[in-house]
Amino acid sequence: MGRPNMVEVRSLNAAYGQSKVLFDIELNIKPNERVAIVGRNGAGKTTLLKCMASLLTPTTGSVIYEGTELVGKRSYEVARMGLKYIDQDKHVFLDLTVRENLELSSYATGDYNWDKVFKHFPKLKILIDRKGAFLSGGERQMLMIGRAILGDPKVLLIDEPTEGLAPSIVDDLVTTFHELSKDCAILTVGQNLSFVSRVAERVYAMKEGKLVAEITDEAEIKNNSYSHYL
Ligand SMILES: Nc1ncnc2c1ncn2[C@@H]1O[C@H](COP(=O)(O)OP(=O)(O)OP(=O)(O)O)[C@@H](O)[C@H]1O
Ligand SMILES: [Mg+2]
Repeated sequence: MGRPNMVEVRSLNAAYGQSKVLFDIELNIKPNERVAIVGRNGAGKTTLLKCMASLLTPTTGSVIYEGTELVGKRSYEVARMGLKYIDQDKHVFLDLTVRENLELSSYATGDYNWDKVFKHFPKLKILIDRKGAFLSGGERQMLMIGRAILGDPKVLLIDEPTEGLAPSIVDDLVTTFHELSKDCAILTVGQNLSFVSRVAERVYAMKEGKLVAEITDEAEIKNNSYSHYL
């Protein structure tokens, strides 16, 4: 309580052509907070994150980040301002090694904090000469997050981080999320309620393009007792 919001989404609506997908979304994130949005397939989670990262333009509404309007800015500008989106498809360059993948991001962003990447993901140092095509799903996820934290992001938007990952890798990601949030806020979306219960301090439930509930009670989050909203 009392802390100013780092991100505020206000009355945000989005559509693909004639098809409306998001309806009057109101959401906020405080510095260093770990927030999750849960919702079924097609609820609109990815669309919302992409609107926040300026990868999509909402039909109406605002995304305010540290007092600045992001709607209308280019996605690379938003990324440079410290708000980074990590997509759910775990896209890394398959023909490039881990090193080359990181180099490419460094060139693109001017961010060279590789030590920070290796601090959070020591395994990437071991895999530095391995091509993207030969990384496991968990290793690709490390590389995706690693690229995003090369600079000093203040907000990470992480789309379905646990999809397709083995339980032990998911356990590691729980620790990673807690560590990362010492330096930045995290908004994650997904359907893995057990993961959400272990990482989120606050949860929004999304159904058919609307945020239908906000859960702040720790016990409710731990017990996933909000699944009836979905
Ligand atoms: N490029 C697109 N063109 C048209 N419709 C789209 C497009 N992308 C998504 N949609 C539709 O918008 C709605 C919301 O999709 P979105 O991908 O945001 O949901 P999601 O909650 O991320 O789902 P998932 O859990 O499957 O990732 C769905 O009905 C989807 O079919
Ligand atoms: Mg999605």
